[in-house]
Amino acid sequence: MNGCTETSALNTERIRADFPIFSRRVRGNPLTFLDSAASTQKPTSVLETMDRVYRWCYANVHRGIYCLSEEATCCYEDTREKVADLINADAREEIIFTRNTTESINLVAYSWGRANIHAGDRILLTELEHHSNIVPWQLLARERGAELVVLGITDDCMLDLEQLDELLDERVRLVAFTMMSNVAGTIVPAKEIIRRAHDVGAVVLVDGAQAVPHLPVDVQELQCDFLAFSGHKMCGPTGIGVLHGRRKLLEAMPPFLSGGDMILRVSWDDTTWNDLPWKFEAGTPPIVEGAGLGAAVDYLKDIGMEAIAAHDRELVSYAMEQLSDLPGLEIVGPPAHRRGGVVAFTFRDIHPHDLAYLMDLEGVAIRAGHHCAQPLHQRLGLTATARASFYVYNTLEDVDRLVAALEKAATKLGRGA
Ligand code: ALA
Repeated sequence: MNGCTETSALNTERIRADFPIFSRRVRGNPLTFLDSAASTQKPTSVLETMDRVYRWCYANVHRGIYCLSEEATCCYEDTREKVADLINADAREEIIFTRNTTESINLVAYSWGRANIHAGDRILLTELEHHSNIVPWQLLARERGAELVVLGITDDCMLDLEQLDELLDERVRLVAFTMMSNVAGTIVPAKEIIRRAHDVGAVVLVDGAQAVPHLPVDVQELQCDFLAFSGHKMCGPTGIGVLHGRRKLLEAMPPFLSGGDMILRVSWDDTTWNDLPWKFEAGTPPIVEGAGLGAAVDYLKDIGMEAIAAHDRELVSYAMEQLSDLPGLEIVGPPAHRRGGVVAFTFRDIHPHDLAYLMDLEGVAIRAGHHCAQPLHQRLGLTATARASFYVYNTLEDVDRLVAALEKAATKLGRGA
């Protein structure tokens, strides 16, 4: 055991007290939650905000000329300002609420994609992508007669930027890439890729599902055209995600989903669209989830995105150091200084599902499988990995617990050192 539980970046003892789930035990053990890349735990402020809206000012938004509806509308719309501020968007109109990252990417694929991608065009992805940033483009490419081209990675899961020169030409209409891999943890040089993509006239979508919760992300500095992310991976509720888009592009795009709220005027002959951002928010939106996401953004801003990134770096370097001491443990991906708080690995010949089961007996929650990134696993010659991923509430002691549980698993299976 390391003995010191805090990282130097965050006061994790104080943070953990904000998360009710850490008061429970799992199979008689303290909860060691190492699956935040899949979804994060929720602080009391988020839970209380959602509870308060339901109990105190719940009504449908944008419709009612009465107090409850006005208050609920404020809670929902205030979050747009908070999100715009978090990612330094030019304007709140550029923040579209969706269900999650996947829906945000689908919105772009259906609306922008079907208006702008034609036969012979190319869509450039990378080998690091998870399924959300692959499948919508596959469907689009098939439908439009376009071609998917894939930027390769090195064996330690860094993007092969030399190959980018060969692949980027004026046939590439869209470049879509993850800013941080959910498997290898790789943080990619987003600004450089965006600049080079723009040089050939391509539009760029950044998949920020992992990056936005963990790193300072500034869309004006990045100059990306679209940024997609989810609330539930950043201490917010499920059911709400974000698409940030440049106003000019969003204005020119046709609607995605249609119905109430996204219209200005409907008649049997014609329908006109609402202003941004509502043009892309059909039907009753996730009102309470919106309020919850606002509380989550407040919570993260109070901690500070720089501090969160520094905390992740410390945890991941400590984890990589400790895990490397286990004979037969192979870590996937780049060195610690090039990744966020994610460590995927294989351990001897133990199947990752068996590992996850044995970890769970010790109260340690990790993810096992392909982590919605089968092509990346195929590239690495693997079918599955075990993955530990960190967030603001994790401690160095959590890493020690993971390592101890792995050692115990190896002994139990008769594969002790
Ligand atoms: N893409 C999510 C993960 O990495 C679900 O676990």
